[in-house]
Amino acid sequence: MRRPMVAGNWKMHGTRASVAELINGLSEQVMPAGVDVAVFPSCLHISQVVDGLAGLAIAVGAQDCATEAQQGALTGEVATSQLHDARCSLVLVGHSERRSLLGEGDEVVTRKFAAAQFSGLLPVLCVGETLAQREAGQTLEVVAAQLSVVADALGVEVFAAAVIAYEPVWAIGTGLTASPEQAQEVHAAIRGQLAAKSPELAGKVRIIYGGSVKAASAAELFGMPDIDGGLVGGASLNADEFGAICRAAGS
Ligand code: PGA
Repeated sequence: MRRPMVAGNWKMHGTRASVAELINGLSEQVMPAGVDVAVFPSCLHISQVVDGLAGLAIAVGAQDCATEAQQGALTGEVATSQLHDARCSLVLVGHSERRSLLGEGDEVVTRKFAAAQFSGLLPVLCVGETLAQREAGQTLEVVAAQLSVVADALGVEVFAAAVIAYEPVWAIGTGLTASPEQAQEVHAAIRGQLAAKSPELAGKVRIIYGGSVKAASAAELFGMPDIDGGLVGGASLNADEFGAICRAAGS
């Protein structure tokens, strides 16, 4: 059995005061024992969140990282070794907002993935199609290509120490959730692609769904055979809502 994961992507939100409130709210949640829970605050708030959640079973990750593992002259970037030193244990790689709004391409995504693993962080590789690609019937092809870039460059076995997040771009922050069946189809295709190289690995890798996940939609999504939890944006900024989503993954 794969252990579900629910991860909260706080994106570019938060002040020291609102982050303190969110930490308080999270510490009051009853989290299910069988679920890995993680939050991804802005880089600025990582230390505050790591300290604030100390003693709770909630891991802290970064939303992005440099393509480099080691420190160096790279203004504005954060090396994966620095994230590790800050007690991050995960990092999002290739989120669609970075791919589309910040021009992050496959090569950069692959280098960030490799740097994360080099520093002992668990990369959460985000893949997903745009609305135009879905309407053109290209969903499976687009997602397969995003996965192949990393698998071909680094070897499929790197996914033994990674999580894959399927996030249809049209569902992110729009209130439009993929139906459980739509998401399941893509999750099964991702697992099938990995299974063609390594059935054992494919059976173990966690593939989580992201795109307007709410407490009301979580249980149905997480009930699908190849959906192993969620990557939650907007709803993760509300501790009660996020707690409910985590509990849905545990039931
Ligand atoms: P959303 O974001 O839940 O607000 O749609 C998901 C994500 O971008 O990770």
